[in-house]
Amino acid sequence: MGFVPFSAGVAICPAHNRVPTIASLAIGALLSKADLSLLQPSLTAGELPGTLNHFDILLRLQARRARSAAAEL
Ligand code: HEM
Repeated sequence: MGFVPFSAGVAICPAHNRVPTIASLAIGALLSKADLSLLQPSLTAGELPGTLNHFDILLRLQARRARSAAAEL
C-alpha cells in the first residue's frame, strides 16, 4: 500500500473527503485571481525526487491584473 494520508479502516480521518474538497476550492479561488510560480526547488517533470522537504518549497504568488472590459470582448 502506498501513502495513506488520512489513514484507513476504523481509524480513518472523518475529514478525508472534506479536506481535499476544501483545499481544491481554496486553491481554485486563489488561482482565479493570482498566478502561482515555483521559485525553488527546481523540479523537472519525469525527474521528480522521491521525497520533498515541504519547508524548502518557495512559491511566488502574483496578483493578476484585472482585464479591461474591451479585452474580454
Ligand atoms: C490535511 C489534513 C488532514 C490529514 C492529513 C488528516 C489525517 C488524519 C489521520 C491520519 C488520522 C488517523 C489518526 C490515527 O490513526 O489515529 C486522522 C484522524 C482524525 N481526523 Fe484528520 N486529518 C486532516 C484533517 C482533519 C480535519 C480538517 C478534521 C476536522 C475538521 C479532522 C478530524 C479528525 C478526527 C476527529 C480524527 C479522529 C478520528 C477517530 O479517532 O475516530 N482531520 N486524521
